Amino acid sequence: MTKGRILSGMRPTGRLHIGHLSVLENWKSLQEEYSCFFFSADWHALTTSFEETAGIKENTVEMVTDWLAVGLDPEKSVIFTQSDVKEHAELHLIFSMITPLSWLERVPTYKDQVQQFRDQGKDIMMYGFLGYPLLQAADILIYRANAVPVGEDQLPHLELTREVARRFNHMYSPVFPEPRALLSRVSLLPGVDNRKMSKSYANDIGIFAEQEELKKKVNAMITDPARIRKNDPGHPEVCVVHKYHSLYSPDELAGIEEQCRRGEIGCVACKKIMAASLERVLSPLRERRREIVSRRGYVREVLADGAARARREAAETMKMVREAMKI
Ligand code: TRP
Ligand code: SF4
Repeated sequence: MTKGRILSGMRPTGRLHIGHLSVLENWKSLQEEYSCFFFSADWHALTTSFEETAGIKENTVEMVTDWLAVGLDPEKSVIFTQSDVKEHAELHLIFSMITPLSWLERVPTYKDQVQQFRDQGKDIMMYGFLGYPLLQAADILIYRANAVPVGEDQLPHLELTREVARRFNHMYSPVFPEPRALLSRVSLLPGVDNRKMSKSYANDIGIFAEQEELKKKVNAMITDPARIRKNDPGHPEVCVVHKYHSLYSPDELAGIEEQCRRGEIGCVACKKIMAASLERVLSPLRERRREIVSRRGYVREVLADGAARARREAAETMKMVREAMKI
């Protein structure tokens, strides 16, 4: 663990889908080389769900159970909930004093998301929503992280984090590193209907879906619409099943492509292979999750221990911040 410190987080949206799996695999391998902090961004969830807060706590536990089942290791990494470490809020407040409003207003996702929610009849133009990229900067800098694994959509937020760090260091005295982005490969998997995978479209495949559920999802996958009879030549490049084979059936992939193009395999048979491939990858994860759930209170213990470790680091940073600012 010599490469420095990493921080990343997710909003607690509950059970994860296989689009999240590549992100988690990435986190899992980073644990070997960095000192890692992974957290459930429950305060961030409030920016858009401040009216429906009932599920947030439970969603954190569900999500972190998923993390552990995939292989995040509380012995190696600090795993915690944002709201357990009040220093995030203190640093956010300090940053809010030195950050020009224009920096926040120009974050590209801001106007887009406000509009998107307005189209759904929801007003999210709250003070906290404008400020959430700054809360994110505090999440990262409170641990003086050197690198942040994020998807491409989060790059503007990381740029803001670097600008805030620079401004603070220049205005008072150097406390913060300027963290760099570790771009994680975004999942190329679409939902079963070929739109972006999302729980709200009900087109997602849960990492821990039971076998029967998996089969249903695979059956719902959209195939090449030009194939009416099973010996019509197919075009795997337009088919959702094929995209999943590319990731999950490495051994069968070449054969399937050829047979599809020649009309030698029907979509029903092809989907059977797909369901078996998914089952092969996901059943060990399902098993591990079951084992974790059977250890009553384990996830809450992990989160309590993580919070204590995170607080120690965060308190140290805040001490440096107060000293730098002479407050
Ligand atoms: N904004 C991120 C998301 O919506 C979650 C997040 C909050 C985060 N704070 C962070 C990610 C700090 C990385 C680092 O997914
Ligand atoms: Fe898709 Fe397979 Fe059908 Fe070809 S045979 S269209 S790859 S499901």
